[in-house]
Amino acid sequence: MLQTRGIELKNLVKVFKKKKKDEVRAVDGVSFRIAEGELFGLLGPNGAGKTTLIKCLSTLLIPDDGTAIVGGCDVNADPLGVRRKLGVLTGGERSLYWKLTPVENLNYFAALYGVPRSETKERIHYLLELMDLFDKKHERVERLSSGMKQKLSIARTLVHDPPILLIDEPTLGLDPYFARFIRTFIKTELHEQLKKTILLTTHYMDEADELCERIAFMYNGKIKALDTPHLLKKRMPQEQVLEVKCVGDIDDQAFSSMHEYGTLNLSKQDGFTYVRMSTENPEDLLSGVVEIVRDRARVLSVSVTSPTLEDVFVHLTGASLKDDTTQQ
Ligand SMILES: Nc1ncnc2c1ncn2[C@@H]1O[C@H](COP(=O)(O)OP(=O)(O)OP(=O)(O)O)[C@@H](O)[C@H]1O
Ligand SMILES: [Mg+2]
Repeated sequence: MLQTRGIELKNLVKVFKKKKKDEVRAVDGVSFRIAEGELFGLLGPNGAGKTTLIKCLSTLLIPDDGTAIVGGCDVNADPLGVRRKLGVLTGGERSLYWKLTPVENLNYFAALYGVPRSETKERIHYLLELMDLFDKKHERVERLSSGMKQKLSIARTLVHDPPILLIDEPTLGLDPYFARFIRTFIKTELHEQLKKTILLTTHYMDEADELCERIAFMYNGKIKALDTPHLLKKRMPQEQVLEVKCVGDIDDQAFSSMHEYGTLNLSKQDGFTYVRMSTENPEDLLSGVVEIVRDRARVLSVSVTSPTLEDVFVHLTGASLKDDTTQQ
């Protein structure tokens, strides 16, 4: 039975043809269901296929195979129906008219999405209050701070009160305070209060862990695992992770040397480099790994911790993540 506010994908495929025979299977046979009101996370590193999947669901790209039903409408057969059910929020994209005010922008988009005129004024008032932009409602958008512009983009996405939201990398490039605001807003307002069905993509493991009820790990266009964060973490056979915290850069050669010891995950946060290796017996790895790190960087601490969602991702996908982005 199709849910009128849910999402269902069956064997969805999107291939980008490059030169001659080269092709990228950006979405490679993806199937899953998102229930009404669920906050669902699609998690994967750069190039996993997350944005391509969102574009297929929002009818910006036509899938090459498979089906996608969004809010009871098929993306191929009824793209207009899909768009009526959807709000799509992508970070960084310029989705507002900068010479117009917030009220003018929202009026324009309300008309575009067919919001009845009798409801528009009340709707805009509500959204400006919700996003804390009421005082700025007659200011030109170009004069608003970037945080305010982002808030107005969210208001714009919600103007036709869509039951389903697709949110692509909501906190990418945001400062830590605003990133926190956005995460709290998604969880408490959009999910708990307004009960929207939400598909969120991110490559921040902590973000997915904190927000999402269920998570799909995406890698090379495929779904490698799908479960609650709690049950995903239970899939690690090794119970422990050896973590070396250091200052300095780990070069490619050191990365491959350590990789020989087992599943490796390298990340940077707040100027520190973290080398994490999941293992049954951390003691066995200790001297070898620390020696390699010590040749390149200043070791600050060595500890044994329990697996994070990122460790599980590395374990289940076989990927060795080398993440240079700073986690907020
Ligand atoms: N318009 C396009 N033409 C050709 N190849 C594309 C196009 N868009 C995406 N790709 C390729 O498809 C693959 C998936 O890209 P996609 O943008 O969906 O990844 P992503 O998971 O959103 O990554 P990121 O975390 O960097 O945003 C990549 O190999 C990418 O180079
Ligand atoms: Mg993307």
